[in-house]
Amino acid sequence: MKILVTGASGLLGANVALEAARAGHEVFGVSHSKTLRTDAFTALTADLLDETALRGLIQQVRPEWVIHCAALADLEACERDPELARRLNGEVPGILAETCRKGGARHKPPRLLHVSTDAVFDGVKGDYVETDEPNPQSVYAEAKLAGERAVAAVDPGALIARVNLFGFSPSGKRSLAEHFLYNLIAGNELKGFTNVYFCPLLVNDIAGIFFKMLAQELSGLYHVFSSECVSKYAFGVRIAERFGLDAGLIEPISVEEFGLAASRSPNLTMIVHKLSTALGEPLPALSPMIERFWGLYQRGYPQEVVGWLAG
Ligand SMILES: NC(=O)c1ccc[n+]([C@@H]2O[C@H](COP(=O)([O-])OP(=O)(O)OC[C@H]3O[C@@H](n4cnc5c(N)ncnc54)[C@H](OP(=O)(O)O)[C@@H]3O)[C@@H](O)[C@H]2O)c1
Repeated sequence: MKILVTGASGLLGANVALEAARAGHEVFGVSHSKTLRTDAFTALTADLLDETALRGLIQQVRPEWVIHCAALADLEACERDPELARRLNGEVPGILAETCRKGGARHKPPRLLHVSTDAVFDGVKGDYVETDEPNPQSVYAEAKLAGERAVAAVDPGALIARVNLFGFSPSGKRSLAEHFLYNLIAGNELKGFTNVYFCPLLVNDIAGIFFKMLAQELSGLYHVFSSECVSKYAFGVRIAERFGLDAGLIEPISVEEFGLAASRSPNLTMIVHKLSTALGEPLPALSPMIERFWGLYQRGYPQEVVGWLAG
């Protein structure tokens, strides 16, 4: 397949682009402010806020699949610049869906997989299914929900994948797992929230799941999460244990004690029954993914991905 991956300099997009290339697909990875230096796939730059550039990108590449990972995904940055969050996370997905749906006059329209987030929920109830009513609690979450709705309104055939994730990023510091790992290696004390629950997937595993969803021509909204949910504190402890590091450096605290600007939804436990039924297989549990995360570290994978932004 010819695949266009947006956000290819970010945590999810970089790993999806790399895994797609390794699976034998022809991959075009799009970054914005950063220049990617990699032989793994064709690296392009574009500002997706520029509609002409966005449309030109689809016309130039003529992908069969578009995996839209680009976003303003930093919650605190969204609070600081709500207008940018609203445009990039809320409006661009609809424009991209419209561009994909129209395709080119002589070309089959590409299939779009739009990436969203568990943060669209308020985290009061937990165990969320796709039909539960969202109730966003931050600028980020509100804009991401608007993005989902814009995509669905333009193209009901598009795939919308709500995710949470961990892995190795080109910046070396984008994921919670990197935060725990590198601080623990440095012997730094750090904090872990005991009352915020999530069900993250390893980004490398998400890539494979996305390809299956696209290959099976699924459409509509899916929860794409681990079959196992944990508190952020427990997640840090699991990382520490697998890497043989001192879990005692992680102080268990409640999120309220920490005083973040953007409100966090506490119980983001998610049900993945719809997707596991569609794929005919369970979603991965945490232990095998932390094992793979450890294996990637042993093979020097973080240095490879960080190397894309070097120089
Ligand atoms: N990280 C998480 O824990 C998490 C959890 C749930 C859902 N998600 C969702 O997963 C997706 C990926 O998140 P992530 O953490 O991988 O993001 P990230 O690491 O912050 O990367 C964001 C990407 O978006 C690109 N981008 C930003 N502004 C752009 C613009 N104007 N035009 C084109 N590209 C632009 C960035 O490019 P440059 O860096 O080159 O500017 C970068 O490649 C997002 O949809 C996010 O909402 C993430």
